[in-house]
Amino acid sequence: MAKLHIVGVGPGSPEYVSPAAHKAVQKAQLVVGAERNLKLFRGEIKGESLTLTAKNVEEGLKYAVGTVKKGKNVALLSTGDPGFSGLLGSMLRRQLTKDVEVNVIPGVSSIQACAAKLCMSWDNAVLFTFHNDPRVEKKRDLAKAVKEGKTVLALPDPNTFTPDEIAAFLLKEGADKKTNVVVCINLTLPNEKIIEASLEEVSEQKFHPLCVMVIKSN
Ligand SMILES: C[S@@+](CC[C@H](N)C(=O)[O-])C[C@H]1O[C@@H](n2cnc3c(N)ncnc32)[C@H](O)[C@@H]1O
Repeated sequence: MAKLHIVGVGPGSPEYVSPAAHKAVQKAQLVVGAERNLKLFRGEIKGESLTLTAKNVEEGLKYAVGTVKKGKNVALLSTGDPGFSGLLGSMLRRQLTKDVEVNVIPGVSSIQACAAKLCMSWDNAVLFTFHNDPRVEKKRDLAKAVKEGKTVLALPDPNTFTPDEIAAFLLKEGADKKTNVVVCINLTLPNEKIIEASLEEVSEQKFHPLCVMVIKSN
């Protein structure tokens, strides 16, 4: 039976793409994904490919499902892990998984790459993603977690809740201006950059959008 493989492809470097991900792509008659993810499988895509952009996500996901319904195997590439701010959520929210067989292949999340880079255990960390989801109640939960001294790992939203805006929001909510922040940019990629600063310093500068923010109690 044809399947929709929702494939986690790691946060950027080809070294973090699993053998299971390669296998699913090689067997697929259609591969759907953002350009930077399709590039990870250059020479391996045997069938059709469709590039996802910010403008055609809805249409691309529906085309993927329609293709599975026609009896073809499809690989849908999702940055990092599909289950954390990834294409699995996009599919579930649109109820697109109910009529097809789905196989989720986990990938290394940017959150995992970030924790590994900083050599930190994230047993007791609190995770937030604001990517396309900067809800007020989530922002309040973040402020509460920081004020309670929890270690936070967060994906900012590149348009509406960037690291400087997150820091400014936390300061306004009464967080200590000396709270430690690490912004991890382009993880696993050749231009990876790790910036350590105080909450106040982060509120005063702009960062590359491909980043994970760590907020640590002092
Ligand atoms: C749509 S979300 C996808 C998250 C992904 N599913 C994951 O598990 O990492 C995209 C956001 O993930 C983060 N991200 C993805 N790749 C990254 C990388 N190589 N370095 C830093 N952050 C990254 C950024 O915050 C980016 O805006």
